[in-house]
Amino acid sequence: MTRDTLNQHIQAMWLDYLQLNPQARLIHGLFLARNTHLINDHIALRTFDLPEVDLAHLAQPFLAAGYSYGGEYHFPDKHLYARHLQHSDQDLPKIFISQLQTHKLQPDSQQLIHQWVDQIPPAVRATESFCYSGRHWNPSWHNYQQLLAESEYAAWLAAFGFRPNHFTILINALQSHDSIESVNQFLSQRGITLNNLGGTVKGSAAQGLEQSSTLASRINVRFSDGTHSIPGCYYEFAKRYPKADGALYQGFVTDSASQIFHSTDNRQGR
Ligand code: NI
Repeated sequence: MTRDTLNQHIQAMWLDYLQLNPQARLIHGLFLARNTHLINDHIALRTFDLPEVDLAHLAQPFLAAGYSYGGEYHFPDKHLYARHLQHSDQDLPKIFISQLQTHKLQPDSQQLIHQWVDQIPPAVRATESFCYSGRHWNPSWHNYQQLLAESEYAAWLAAFGFRPNHFTILINALQSHDSIESVNQFLSQRGITLNNLGGTVKGSAAQGLEQSSTLASRINVRFSDGTHSIPGCYYEFAKRYPKADGALYQGFVTDSASQIFHSTDNRQGR
C-alpha cells in the first residue's frame, strides 16, 4: 500500500467514525480553531478472534503499508487481547487493535458470532478497507441484549461491525493546551461529558501515558426488529511522556485501556 493510499484509508476511517460520533467533528473543530494542526495519536479497532477477521487479519494492510507490531496487552476480565501497530513516521497514527476471545462467551453467544462472521464474503474480507466495512449481519435487539449481558464489547461489535471505535488527539502536539487536565477542563466547560470511571485521567507521567476520553453519545442503530438508541463511539485524548532514553513512550497502559473500554458502556451513569 502506498503512502497516498494509506492516507486515503485513514481519511475514509475518519469520515466513517464521524457518522458514529457526530460530537467528534465539534471537538476536532474546537481544537483546530486553536492549533495549526492536530496529530492523531491512535485509531482503535475492535474485532472477534475468529481467524477470518481477527487482529492479525485487520493488521495485514497496515503491515503492508510499513507499520510494525508494538506492544501486546491482555485484558482477562474482559476476554480481550490487543496489540498496537506503529509506523516510523510519527505523524501517522498508531493502530490499536483488540480482539474478543469468542470461546470465553456462552455457547449461544459464540454460535451467533460464528454465524455472523460466516456471512462475510471472502472477497469482502480480503479488501484493504475491511477494517471499516461496517456490519455484515442483521442482529435482532434480543441478540444485542443477549451479548450485552456478558460482554459490552461483543454487543458493540454486533451493533456496529468493523468500524473505528475511537480517534485520539495527541496533547503533546497542541499549542493551545499542555496538560490533560486543561484539555479535560476545556471540554467539560463546553458541556462535553467525559468518562469518569476510575477518575477522568487514566494513567500517569510515570507510566509514560495519560489518557482521557469522552463518553460515547447514543445514536440510533437499526436492528432486524426495530431501531434503538445505543452508545456509539468516543473521542480520546493522550499525553505521552519521555522514557529514560528521552524518546516519548509509544505504548499503552493496560489498566488505563481497560477503563477506557468502558467509554462505550451502556450501563455507565450519565
Ligand atoms: Ni485509545
